[in-house]
Amino acid sequence: MITPLIAANWKMNKTVGESVRFAQQLVAEFAEFTEREIVIAPPFTALYPVAQVLQESPIHLSAQNVHWNEKGAYTGEISPGMLVDIGCEYVIIGHSERRTLFGEKDDDINRKISTALTFDVTPIFCIGETLDERIAHKTFDTANRQIKEGLNNIPSDDIKRIVIAYEPVWAIGTGKTATAEQAEEVHRYIRELIVDSFGEDTGKNVRIIYGGSVNGDNIGGLMTQPDINGALVGGASLDVESFRNIIKY
Ligand code: PGA
Repeated sequence: MITPLIAANWKMNKTVGESVRFAQQLVAEFAEFTEREIVIAPPFTALYPVAQVLQESPIHLSAQNVHWNEKGAYTGEISPGMLVDIGCEYVIIGHSERRTLFGEKDDDINRKISTALTFDVTPIFCIGETLDERIAHKTFDTANRQIKEGLNNIPSDDIKRIVIAYEPVWAIGTGKTATAEQAEEVHRYIRELIVDSFGEDTGKNVRIIYGGSVNGDNIGGLMTQPDINGALVGGASLDVESFRNIIKY
């Protein structure tokens, strides 16, 4: 049985003070709660102070991006070693906003996943089709390409450590969630792809979470699906009350 993973992606929101207060409230409420794995991804500026609040708590810290090199002349970038240094255990890689607004390619994403794993930072690897791709019946083709290229040359043993986030681009920040059935169809496809490429045990155990306008009202339905193992939440994770409702679906 896979423990459901609920992750908050705050994107470019929250000051240090706001992030710390939010983390304190979560710790106060969920210090003993083990039914879900809770992950929060504040902006880079708040990672270190939030890490101090989360110490000794079961809540995990994630970054929203990382560079593929260990160090060097890469102005403005953050390395996986720097994330480990401050106690960050997860990193979101290949989010659709990084792909579309900042030109990240499958190959860049592959390098980031590979380096993150080397440093023992768990990648939350995002994939998902655009609306045009869905209309053109290319949903599975897109998933196939993004998974194959994103996980190219990653050893089978490491795949189990990765969290795959299926986030249809047309559902992100739009209020349009995929129905539980639409999401499950793609999750099942992804799991079969992992089974075919990396073996039965890896495919059965890899965590595949859903993202795209998840909220307290739709999370319950999504989580009834056999291949949905959690959620990556943007807008509805910014408010403690609404994030708490999602955690406690
Ligand atoms: P949303 O964002 O919940 O606001 O749609 C999800 C995400 O981008 O990860």
